[in-house]
Amino acid sequence: MSKPKVLLTRRIPSSAQAALDAACAVDRNDGGQLSPEQLKTRLADKEGVVCLLTDMFTADVMDAAPQLKVIANVAVGYNNIDVAAATDRGIVVTNTPEVLTEATADLAWALIMDITRRVSEGDRLIRRGGWKGWALDFMLGNELNGKMLGIIGYGRIGQAVAARAVPFGLRVIHSDVQAVPGSGAIPVDRLLATSDIVSIHCPLTPETRHMINQAALARMKRSAYLINTSRGPVVDEAALAWALKNGIISGAALDVYEEEPMVHPDLLALENVVLAPHLGSATTETRTAMADLAVRNAIAVLTGQSALTPVS
Ligand code: GLV
Repeated sequence: MSKPKVLLTRRIPSSAQAALDAACAVDRNDGGQLSPEQLKTRLADKEGVVCLLTDMFTADVMDAAPQLKVIANVAVGYNNIDVAAATDRGIVVTNTPEVLTEATADLAWALIMDITRRVSEGDRLIRRGGWKGWALDFMLGNELNGKMLGIIGYGRIGQAVAARAVPFGLRVIHSDVQAVPGSGAIPVDRLLATSDIVSIHCPLTPETRHMINQAALARMKRSAYLINTSRGPVVDEAALAWALKNGIISGAALDVYEEEPMVHPDLLALENVVLAPHLGSATTETRTAMADLAVRNAIAVLTGQSALTPVS
C-alpha cells in the first residue's frame, strides 16, 4: 500500500522527521513561511499536514485540500486553525499539550525575575557604557517575597507557574476565563486589582482577545507588572504602551505579540518592558518532544487510529 502523503510546513528535529518519513510520503518545505496560496497548492493532494503556529488554516485553505484528514500543529495553542471548519470537514486537529508545560512555565519565571530585578535593562545599560559603578540606590528592583502573583488561565501551564511561586515566597490567586465552580478562581477584575504580578496563561479566543485593554490595565496597581507568555492579541499592545509610558503599571515582560514578528514601536522605546521573541517552549528537549508528538498524532490518524492529543 502506498504511504499517505503529508505536507511538513517547516523543518523539524531529525528524530521526528525520520519517524514521519518511515510512515508517510513527505513533502517538506525547506524554504520560509508558506503563503496561504502556497499552502493551498502544496495541500491539494495531501492527507495530512504537520504545521507550525505561524501557518494559518482557514476554511478557504482547507477547501483546497479535499483529502485532508489531519492537521497536526506543533504547538499547544491552536488559534491558527479554524477548528470548527476542520470539524465540519471531518479533519482532525491535534496540538502538543503537556510536553511544553515546564519549559513555558520556566520562561514565564525568567520574565518575572527579569522585569522585577531589571536584568535586561541593566544589560542594555552596560552595553551602552552607562554603568558608573555600584551605588546603594542604583537600579533598585522589587522583591518577590510576600507579594501576590495573579494567574489568568489556570490550566497546565498556569498551574506549573503557580507551583514555582512557593519557593519565592509569593502568594498565588487565579482566574479562569470560563470559571469552574469550586476551582478557587476569582473574577479577573479582582485579580487585576490585587496582584503585584499578573501572568497570563489562557488561550486566545474571541473572549480573551484584548482582554487586557486600557480599562483592565487601569485596574492594576501602579506598582504591578504584567507578564504574557500566552498569545499576543490577549493584550492590547497600544494600551499596554500607554500604561507603561504613563506609570499606570510599573513594567511588563512579553514573549508574544499581536503581529509577530512585529512589536508595537512604542514598546521598543521603553525601558520598563522586557521583550522576548516567542521563546516559551524553546528548549531543545521540548521542541523535540513537541515535533515527536505532532508526528505521532499525524501518523495515528493516517493509519486509522485515534489521535493522541486531539483538540476537541
Ligand atoms: C507556543 O506558543 C505554543 O502554543 O506551543
